[in-house]
Amino acid sequence: MCGIVGYTGGEACVPILLEGLEALAYRGYDSAGVAVFDGEKISLCKAQGQLSNLSVLLREQPLAGSCGIGHTRWATHGEPSYVNAHPHMDDAKQIALVHNGIIENYQNLKQMLIQKGCEFVSETDTEVVAQLIGSLYMGDCLSAVLAAMRLMEGSFALSILFYDEPRTIYCCCKDSPMVVGHSESASFVASDIPALLPYTRDVCFMEDKQIAVLRPDGVDYFNEFGLPIEKTLTHIDWDVEAAKKGNFEHFMMKEIFEEPVAFKKTLEQYVSVKELRLKTDIFPWSQEEAAALKKLSIVSCGTAYHAALLGKKFIERMAGLPVEVDIASEFRYGDAVLEPGDSLMVISQSGETADTIAALRMANGRGCRTVAICNVIGSTIAREAETVLFTYAGPEIAVAATKSYLTQLIVLYLTALDLAQKRGRMSAEAVASRILEMAAMPERMQRILDNRERIQYFASRAFSVKHVFFIGRGIDHALAMEAALKLKEISYIHSEAYAAGELKHGTIALIEEGSLVVALATQPELLKKMASNMEEVRVRGARVLAVTNGPADGVAANSHEQWELEPMEETLTPFCAILPMQLLAYYMAVQKGCSVDRPRNLAKSVTVE
Ligand code: M6R
Repeated sequence: MCGIVGYTGGEACVPILLEGLEALAYRGYDSAGVAVFDGEKISLCKAQGQLSNLSVLLREQPLAGSCGIGHTRWATHGEPSYVNAHPHMDDAKQIALVHNGIIENYQNLKQMLIQKGCEFVSETDTEVVAQLIGSLYMGDCLSAVLAAMRLMEGSFALSILFYDEPRTIYCCCKDSPMVVGHSESASFVASDIPALLPYTRDVCFMEDKQIAVLRPDGVDYFNEFGLPIEKTLTHIDWDVEAAKKGNFEHFMMKEIFEEPVAFKKTLEQYVSVKELRLKTDIFPWSQEEAAALKKLSIVSCGTAYHAALLGKKFIERMAGLPVEVDIASEFRYGDAVLEPGDSLMVISQSGETADTIAALRMANGRGCRTVAICNVIGSTIAREAETVLFTYAGPEIAVAATKSYLTQLIVLYLTALDLAQKRGRMSAEAVASRILEMAAMPERMQRILDNRERIQYFASRAFSVKHVFFIGRGIDHALAMEAALKLKEISYIHSEAYAAGELKHGTIALIEEGSLVVALATQPELLKKMASNMEEVRVRGARVLAVTNGPADGVAANSHEQWELEPMEETLTPFCAILPMQLLAYYMAVQKGCSVDRPRNLAKSVTVE
């Protein structure tokens, strides 16, 4: 949601700002703008809609200067429009700033500023911040930013240009991500790493209420009291190409194709494939702690929540440990019973999801043992959890999570194996046989990708369907939840996941001639039950697509099409079964002409409530 970039150095800043904004476009936006300091004045250029509109304007009326800030806005306060687009300035035109987040007390601040004579042109909370800093500025930029931070409630990441300090950008944040890039002759800021990758991989992650003052020759950091602080540089080893589309039409397809490699990379971090054993020390619980665990809570949002649902299946089945799974936005305002010492796991690709962070902080505050599964080094969640189990998916740009989901499943599966072994529920040999099968998974996955035409062909006939029901039992039901989300979020086709056994309790009333039912039937001991459920919907006019673990009895007669996975141990099927589901969603969306990488109304990283 919203993207910030900033640059101060020796080069013309506009191309760098535009490239950075392009790299952040995946976060979702509806308008964009830049502010450039040309040595004499700060000039703005803003445009509603696509970034290309802004580029055209900047070609027609170029802005010269080597220090500037840019923004992609995802409307919260006020409609998407030119006037509400960032950057915003104060009345005196001394300050220009861009902002991510929500200032919760902006109405009160606005009233106070109006009484002082400020005139507002936009409906945004951001303009209030610009006017606030303007009104507090008495010749010392740092003091004005510090004073404003004390008055603002809510979340913010700010990059600010002051007319009186050429070639300098002031940055600060609270509950909104911000990363500063360092190089020999320039300094950068962005709300996410991909915008910095073409220029530097040496970065500092800003923490709440810290201030960074960027100049071409370096960055000074201050704490909330204005005292200088030292910060450590983190070197990011993501490949620049990983954040580019390459020869693929969409990031989503590229990222689906990266899944076999992401699988291998993640697996190899947690197991010795050669010795077929887990690197048990990496996992959060010692043998004694694992044996003493009474339950585990997992909290996350969206796709990461669906990964948690599968994690519950893995851990309960293999380790015999009860797992409670919650949606973070429910958990944080619910009546969670958390005692000191309880274990709580959060899952987040970005590490910046506001509700998940709140859940993590709540658990930390209550003295719980916290564990995060996270893809982004240096993100808020990675910094604040007691133990982090990283996923090695690399940058994920498409809004639809694909490779991050897969890698979350791997870490959850391996956590389940580790707990199972430490709790005496699985022998080292049994674990070794799972690892052996997992090591073969990338090749199996690749074969599914190589044979994708069948899925494409199916999508080309099915894309006009109005409703799709994904049904499954046990592990398949958890996977169905994610399959339904993928389809609805990028193709806008109404899709739901149901536990197949629940159909008769109400949902089957929705089935009519032409409904599409995708039956995930990969669990051998539940196959007969699934075959009956398929029959129930088929005889009511549904078209049934079945996904099975190898050849499966009773399925052909009750389905119109069957996609067979190569046979494998039943708990491992999600690693392969998710691929055809992601591809199906992708091809349906492409057939419908949808904006696959940037679905309407959605943002990649949900950093506000
Ligand atoms: O970054 P996170 O994993 O915390 O994001 C959580 C959800 O917003 C995310 O999984 C979302 O549901 C997916 N992008 C949908 O594909």
